Amino acid sequence: IFAAVEMAPRDPILGLTESFNADTRPTKVNLGVGVYYDDNGKIPLLAAVKAAEKARLEAAPPRGYQPIEGPATYTQAVQNLLFGAGSDLIAAGRVVTAQGIGGTGALRIGADFLKRLNPGATVYISDPSWENHRALFEAAGFPVETYPYYDAATRGVDFAGMKAKLLSLPAGSVILLHACCHNPTGADLSDAQWEEVVAACREKGLVPFLDMAYQGFADGIDQDAVAVRLFSASGLQFFVSSSFSKSFSLYGERVGALSIVTASKEESSRVLSQVKRVIRTNYSNPQIHGAAIVATVLSSPELRAQWESELAGMRDRIRAMRTGLVEKLAAKGVAQDFSFVVKQRGMFSYTGLSADQVAVLQKDFGIYAVSTGRICLAALNAKNIDYVADGIAQVLKG
Ligand code: LMR
Repeated sequence: IFAAVEMAPRDPILGLTESFNADTRPTKVNLGVGVYYDDNGKIPLLAAVKAAEKARLEAAPPRGYQPIEGPATYTQAVQNLLFGAGSDLIAAGRVVTAQGIGGTGALRIGADFLKRLNPGATVYISDPSWENHRALFEAAGFPVETYPYYDAATRGVDFAGMKAKLLSLPAGSVILLHACCHNPTGADLSDAQWEEVVAACREKGLVPFLDMAYQGFADGIDQDAVAVRLFSASGLQFFVSSSFSKSFSLYGERVGALSIVTASKEESSRVLSQVKRVIRTNYSNPQIHGAAIVATVLSSPELRAQWESELAGMRDRIRAMRTGLVEKLAAKGVAQDFSFVVKQRGMFSYTGLSADQVAVLQKDFGIYAVSTGRICLAALNAKNIDYVADGIAQVLKG
């Protein structure tokens, strides 16, 4: 039965980690996957998470099945973080939230639900976007196209192109938007541009789907939620996928959520009933541990304050690495202006390195980056930054 099975290509991001793990060079650096490492090159176990985990282990709770959509303690905490604790939408019962298996799982629940709602729609993702966006929506059965986003000349957003495209689309088109810390480019929309995107979605009857995987990694919890808040104020219905992989450093626990803003409380109960069917026929109900940790931290004022300060620490360290890399590249005689790295937001930099240059970095230096030239700044530290700057400088000199 497997004789005709073809070899699938490696995943463009997680496949790099496979190659990295197999690399025996002690100086190797993985700038491929979007994971935050501390200055010792370790994935941190946040103190707030550790404290919540300790309390949970001591309480030794039973491990029954969870509600299909996840526990209310978790889904309410997700809503408060995304929409703001005083949100009118939450009070009006207009937000439906279901726990997801990471942000990816949340996207997939949303995609499967959308496919049932609107099977003829096309999904539009930014050009470029996270590699898995296209694959995931295609796997859910949608044609996937792009809207203009990154302008390599300005290293910013081609907003005129993006807006013109949105205004040309048929009603019901699904628009995948990166709520903050655009992956892979690090180029975000301004607040005023978000307002124009909201207006375009309203004018054309588009279905906004916001992907929020990096809340807190640009400017802060509330500041990074500006797109969600503007859509909330618009009266439109929309989707938000969110993730605690990065913000709680809980990658392998796969803690995410899908939130859907509906028109009314009554609509919410119908929407939730359908989302639950999608989940039940897929993995039945979600895992307990990670969501319990997140709910505990977010509902305890002390642990929440501790988490926010740890999140700020991660954000600040990434910024320091951005500045450090730019300075070191200049010090190594790289003529090209890399100051854009400091302006990009979140974990990534779209360096402008070509696929060939990335391949040389990997082969000659054991420095792994995505073939599009995306690097994860959060993998740099005081020990490896010189080595990485040196590798990039040598590759650029050809
Ligand atoms: C990334 O873009 O590297 C992360 O979001 C991890 C992943 O799942 O691809």
